[in-house]
Amino acid sequence: MKPSGFACIPREHQGYNHPALIDILQDPENMSTFVNRSALGILPPLDIVQLISESLLSVAPQGLPQVQTMACGSCSNENAFKAVFFWYRNKQRGGSASHEDLESSMLNQMPGSPDLSILSFMGGFHGRTLGCLSCTHSKAIHKVDVPAFDWPIAPFPHLRYPLNEYPAENAHEESRCLEQVEEQIEAYSRRGRPVAGIVVEPIQAEGGDNHASPDFFRRLRGLATKHGCAFICDEVQTGCGATGPFWAHEYWNLDSPPDVVTFSKRMLTGGFFFHNEFRPDAAYRIFNTWMGDPPKVLLLHAVLRVIREKHLLDGTRRAGVVLLKGLTQLQVCCWVAVGNSQFVFAQHSSSQSSMQTSSWRFSTLRWQSASDRLNFMAASSIEAYLSGSDGIGTIVLCD
Ligand SMILES: Cc1ncc(COP(=O)(O)O)c(C=O)c1O
Repeated sequence: MKPSGFACIPREHQGYNHPALIDILQDPENMSTFVNRSALGILPPLDIVQLISESLLSVAPQGLPQVQTMACGSCSNENAFKAVFFWYRNKQRGGSASHEDLESSMLNQMPGSPDLSILSFMGGFHGRTLGCLSCTHSKAIHKVDVPAFDWPIAPFPHLRYPLNEYPAENAHEESRCLEQVEEQIEAYSRRGRPVAGIVVEPIQAEGGDNHASPDFFRRLRGLATKHGCAFICDEVQTGCGATGPFWAHEYWNLDSPPDVVTFSKRMLTGGFFFHNEFRPDAAYRIFNTWMGDPPKVLLLHAVLRVIREKHLLDGTRRAGVVLLKGLTQLQVCCWVAVGNSQFVFAQHSSSQSSMQTSSWRFSTLRWQSASDRLNFMAASSIEAYLSGSDGIGTIVLCD
């Protein structure tokens, strides 16, 4: 069987063509689920509640007992935003929509079509449907030519590495971003477009592998609570054990859980978990023809079994430790720019841990002259001089 190596953005833990998944397909009991697609919102199959309880609800984030399946990451976020807007308006009104709300919504007018917003972060990616795209700020090509909501955007921390060398700078950077979050919430409230929800990825993925500390997220959660905004955690990329725990937000040790956690990718089905308060107050408010896809939930059921039986999350944690150690060691390797602006990879070739004057090996000899002064990009405080033309150089590290 051909593994479609380039078709799979999120690599599932169990790998390609796992026998447990093939068994699901070959089991005649499952034939009807695969052949007859159910419109889950109106004609769900008899066993769907049990299937969802045994699969999705068995991995529900703590404090979020409700789940809604969807087809993809974008429609999971898009519908999560809707659930947040319903919650926010019901809270403002103290109940369900009035006759005036219903009438005005038909003309896209207030109060039925309210001026509410979702706050997102620069560098974030939440999908390509209209609401999601207004929260996506990773690459312009995703957004250009598409009308966007005027919703607040806060900066996401740009941390300096190695983290242990810049604790004060990074704490300052995170505080700066959180101050901006609060300023934006207050500014949009004054403008009559209050922030109903804050959406954030635990690790910005599409936007460039950007991280923030658990403290940043705890304080962000605190701001959401303080200002009455829902805290939406987009785990489309990080969920299903990608980072070690089943959900990346578990690293944060929040006092109160996120209000909504969205998922897709490794989970095979899209969807979102949510707090009881976010359950829509009427049928068809969160609805589309399919509302997800039961065969995907069936496959997820098998994936979760394999993850548990084979202790795959332990493997992820162990691999994470090895990877992190390797990456930490790589921090003493630098990309260097030479006079002709080509890049050369320099690797520390001595076993000395002292970063004073030591010997380095340059893997690619692309400089024009052996005496070129090198400008280190990755470690800007370092000045380096090359002393040999054979690839062995002496690096002088400045304070
Ligand atoms: C964090 C995040 N959210 C949402 C999405 C959108 O998912 P989809 O492409 O399934 O619509 C992605 C896709 O890469 C993502 O990485």
